[in-house]
Amino acid sequence: MTLQPLLKAEPETRSIFVHTFGCQMNEYDSLRVVRLLAPLGYRSTTDISEADVVFINTCSVREKAEQKVYSFLGRLKPLKQRRPHMKIIIAGCVAQQLGEKLLARFEYVDLVLGTRAVSSITGLLEHAIETGARLVHLPEIDPGDELEFHCGLNGVQTHVVAPVTIMQGCDNFCSYCIVPFVRGRERSRPADAIIREISLLVESGAREVLLLGQNVNSYGRGLETDISFVGLLRRIQDETDLARLRFTTSHPKDLTDELIRCFAELPCLCAHLHLPVQAGSDEILRRMNRGYSRSRYLERIDRLREICPDIGLSSDVMVGFPGESEEQFQDTMNLLKTVQFDSLFSFKYSDRPDTRASRFPDKVPEDVKARRLTELQNLQAEITLRKNLDEIGRIRDVLVEGTSKASKEQSTGRTQQNRVVNFDNPDVPAGRIVRLRITAAFAHSLLGEAI
Ligand code: 5AD
Ligand code: SF4
Repeated sequence: MTLQPLLKAEPETRSIFVHTFGCQMNEYDSLRVVRLLAPLGYRSTTDISEADVVFINTCSVREKAEQKVYSFLGRLKPLKQRRPHMKIIIAGCVAQQLGEKLLARFEYVDLVLGTRAVSSITGLLEHAIETGARLVHLPEIDPGDELEFHCGLNGVQTHVVAPVTIMQGCDNFCSYCIVPFVRGRERSRPADAIIREISLLVESGAREVLLLGQNVNSYGRGLETDISFVGLLRRIQDETDLARLRFTTSHPKDLTDELIRCFAELPCLCAHLHLPVQAGSDEILRRMNRGYSRSRYLERIDRLREICPDIGLSSDVMVGFPGESEEQFQDTMNLLKTVQFDSLFSFKYSDRPDTRASRFPDKVPEDVKARRLTELQNLQAEITLRKNLDEIGRIRDVLVEGTSKASKEQSTGRTQQNRVVNFDNPDVPAGRIVRLRITAAFAHSLLGEAI
């Protein structure tokens, strides 16, 4: 009997199942939810059937991504019938876009949280549990000032590679893109808050940080303290003990010489850049409202390779933008041949609500888009494989992330250029940087041996 009050003081253990669609910024927000709910006794589970809370972070950047969210939600119905006390929360871009409509369409969803509502989750979830209310929360601006705010790690395990969001929203209004509508205007997070979070992550085991934002090159605009993205990178180099730093996404129009020089000057900055080009035709780039030409993009690539000859480059491209002719598609193919990206994410254009491009005429038929995508992906597969084969014999430093998924006998990690390398030795602790000689190359990874 005397133990009763003590037991009550401890939060009851409950489990949360998290599923994240879309980008790394969503991954980061999901991680924050796990950290925020940890003090209430929530522990992550990979078994959805035993979850007390199911948190789904959604993406609406492409139509296909949005469809995946709906099919996942459809599968939750029988689960909720079996576990009526289970709370289902939908957050992210689809939540922001549809709000109330999600509650109406999926009668078993309990909470809909917009893209600026993550920090409110604790109170809203407790309210929903106590009252059984179904709630929608889509604040214009973050109530808890999401950008300043950092909840601490709260005992949640830190991985070797940790994401850190440095800004939210986007002001670019590329004509195809829904992001400015669902993520709002661009806002930067104060540098001190970023440095504090990185220091904490490093203390708890992170060796590499991935800085996140829709357009990191414009970091700092609107902040009280005058700081640029380059200034932030320099502060991270000087004030933290981070081994490796990356960032995404960069916009080609804002990629300054000063930022390019960082690849030569900052020891922690990895020789890798993701620089979405989207298309190789000037006319398409103009109608996408990208703010650069093909020649300007190629000039930036030349400059990057001049400053950092070993840099790994990746990109995003889209096929079948409204009005894209066969010739304009070939301009994209030629650009890929010219640049020789190490890896590429490629998509079929799809109409997104509210965007200007969704109202453009001359939509490209689905079968043409599909054919162009296959052609483009075949070309890139050849380039990626050849570039991987070029790695054979080279010596690379690999940050070990854990045991390889393919074999329990191997460890896996990444080179600075962001290539996956597996090597025989399952006992190297995650977080160690090992020097390997590359001995074989495949479509998506390399094999290495210790030297
Ligand atoms: N259709 C297809 N792809 C898109 N992307 C963004 N919007 C669309 C759209 N409407 C792609 C771009 C972007 C990546 C994140 O998604 O290539 O860089
Ligand atoms: Fe979308 Fe363009 Fe902003 Fe990227 S830069 S999020 S593509 S509007």
